[in-house]
Amino acid sequence: MLGQVVLRSLAELRAWRAQIPLGESLGFVATMGALHEGHISLVRESVAKCRRTVVSIFVNPTQFAPGEDLDKYPRTLESDLAKLAPLGIDAVYAPSVDDLYPPEASTIVVETSLSKHLCGPFRPGHFRGVMTVVLTLFNQVRPDAAFFGQKDYQQCAVLRRMVRDLAVPVEMVVCPTVREPDGLAMSSRNAYLTPDARLLAPCIYESLVKVLALYQLGESSGSRLAAEGLAHLQSATQFEVEYYSVVHLNTLEPLECVGKAGAVVAVAARLEGTRLIDNVLLEAH
Ligand code: PAF
Repeated sequence: MLGQVVLRSLAELRAWRAQIPLGESLGFVATMGALHEGHISLVRESVAKCRRTVVSIFVNPTQFAPGEDLDKYPRTLESDLAKLAPLGIDAVYAPSVDDLYPPEASTIVVETSLSKHLCGPFRPGHFRGVMTVVLTLFNQVRPDAAFFGQKDYQQCAVLRRMVRDLAVPVEMVVCPTVREPDGLAMSSRNAYLTPDARLLAPCIYESLVKVLALYQLGESSGSRLAAEGLAHLQSATQFEVEYYSVVHLNTLEPLECVGKAGAVVAVAARLEGTRLIDNVLLEAH
């Protein structure tokens, strides 16, 4: 197993962390398990960039809004460990809920601007759950660099803001979205898709590619670009679109005109109840 240890508690993590010599860089990939090629690409990036790598596997209850899929979220620790084994990482941290949330935990991390856009209104409490667990994991693991996927663009933006505002000594590295051959962004939630829904799901990326093409042809109106993507997606009536937006790369505010700085086109849609998100960047011309 190339030296991969499984740390099942905070005490085990602390003992392991204490043995890493000062000056040896530590990379960190936070996951909720059910690992796919998207996660694996983050792990590979960390292994390439850092002397040591630790991967956490923890299904974080506080980032699921009431009625969301916390109970059915796939928990596949043994197969996750097998997928990580050949990658040359040093440790897997698989803590219990108490290790992250001690009894009577009453402190949360709240971001008050970026988290109000895009997914914010549709997933009440989601980003404060993500921020609280990620800051706690950062404090426990004390990594030099942390690797996240661009598929969760808003999560990356909110966490970057947290790292900056709270002077967290971690370098944030955002890695490209990994896609299935038909374009569907990899996600642990893709496992919920029925065969029919799976056939339709790539329409999300297809619609983003259409928006990108229109932008490259010279269209710069945020609302027209978003309307084009939305129309393409809604031509398959099975999608319930939560938002289809062209927003500022840093503030995530809707953009009337895509200027020199570029933009991100972000979409969230439900397909037979499964919530899918994706995005593409509009690079400056
Ligand atoms: O992106 C995820 O899988 C989760 O939001 C994270 C960052 C592991 C926090 O629970």
